[in-house]
Amino acid sequence: MIDLSGRHLACIVLDRVETEDAYVNLALQETLSRNNKIDQREKAFCTELVYGTMRHLLKIDYFLGRLLSRPLKSLKVTVKNTLRISLYQLLYLPEIPARAVCHSAVAMIKGSKYQGLAPLVNGVLRSFLRAQPQLPDPEREWVEYLAIEYSHPQWLVEKWLTVFGDQLTVKILEVDNQKPPLTVRITALEQKAVTDLLTEEGVEWEPGLWLDEAINLTKLPGALEDLQAFQGGKIFVQDESSMLVSRLLNPTPGELIVDLCAAPGGKSTHLAELMRDQGVIFSIDDHPHKIDLITANAKRLALNSIKPTLGDARNFTLPDAQLADAVLVDAPCSGTGVLRRRVDARYRKKLEDLQELVELQQSILKNAAGLVKPGGRLVYSTCSIEPEEDEEQVKWFIEQHPQFEIEAYQQFLTPKISSSLLDPNLPWVKVIPSLTGGDGFFICRFKRRQ
Ligand SMILES: C[S@@+](CC[C@H](N)C(=O)[O-])C[C@H]1O[C@@H](n2cnc3c(N)ncnc32)[C@H](O)[C@@H]1O
Repeated sequence: MIDLSGRHLACIVLDRVETEDAYVNLALQETLSRNNKIDQREKAFCTELVYGTMRHLLKIDYFLGRLLSRPLKSLKVTVKNTLRISLYQLLYLPEIPARAVCHSAVAMIKGSKYQGLAPLVNGVLRSFLRAQPQLPDPEREWVEYLAIEYSHPQWLVEKWLTVFGDQLTVKILEVDNQKPPLTVRITALEQKAVTDLLTEEGVEWEPGLWLDEAINLTKLPGALEDLQAFQGGKIFVQDESSMLVSRLLNPTPGELIVDLCAAPGGKSTHLAELMRDQGVIFSIDDHPHKIDLITANAKRLALNSIKPTLGDARNFTLPDAQLADAVLVDAPCSGTGVLRRRVDARYRKKLEDLQELVELQQSILKNAAGLVKPGGRLVYSTCSIEPEEDEEQVKWFIEQHPQFEIEAYQQFLTPKISSSLLDPNLPWVKVIPSLTGGDGFFICRFKRRQ
């Protein structure tokens, strides 16, 4: 039987998210490590409650708004979050008996300084159990219905309906509310030795969808960071879609590569492995603390060809005005392809931010074009599924840089990916988050004419 502490900690995390505007993952991490005495099961329960409640926040708040006789925002934050995690359990964790949910919520409030509000909490939960409020009518209010049912901002739902149509939009919304797979890249050449080591350590895993170096870890005996395979630099956490980027760049040993937006180094380290650590990779990022992450990751994976370098991708130049064999622009973007991984990100996004990002991506691409040698290549990628950051950027780039042409992905990547692409006949990769696939990603390869 799960006792109260997982629920209690979940409320503490959600209180911090609301009052300090803290990022959910960071607030959760800090709260759990400050309370490291609680057992693994309680930690897992707390994590489930925090992530689950955040994923379904708009729907939960919609229901609470209809059950309360006063505005939700007028409630004390602790009371509000106790109700939120309780509704999450009642809606999405059917294995927990409803009476246990109500009892623990009331007990939590009775044990807090808001004990006078215990009858209100009890009343709200009982009314929810008696009659769940109606959602907007999908026949008449399709957009509102989707936004509430799947807890996404209405502007984003509207945008996706226009771009992707009803069926695909619903699929994306569903995927965003699912727990993402824990995918790792096997960094060593002896892949079998690494999977054997993982099995010996009690890890359950299954092969990835497309690439030999990708595996999904389905069960861990403890923390990932404690595994020998992790500590020995044999695995790197990275979604399989993201691995397609370095594969499409297709580096060869001895090349000079520039990775203009490199931190924390997922793609730089993959490139270095594909080059057998022979050659030079300038891994640029403009955030000093993120340079340390690239350095730490390259060190853990024992890669020497990576040169972590603080710089601005909009004006970085190579020493002695050299030109690179290949340049990677894994651009800062809206991240709408990876919403399932960052449960609070969807609530922070605004349509107005998109134009700013588009301009930043263009400035970086403009500088990148000048760094590529004749005959060299440029790869542009985002973890966004918005046309403005993807296909429209490609169109803009080709118009502005006629010395470049697109090189079709089909020459470089396994045909296995085609069923996960929006349109496999187009020359670029656009993975749409699907029920079985990787994160949403866009990748296009260009070649500079001789
Ligand atoms: C999508 S992330 C890169 C992920 C990385 N390629 C990987 O695979 O691990 C984009 C990165 O661009 C960096 N960035 C944003 N603006 C930049 C700029 N003007 N110059 C250099 N880096 C920038 C951010 O700090 C962020 O680390």
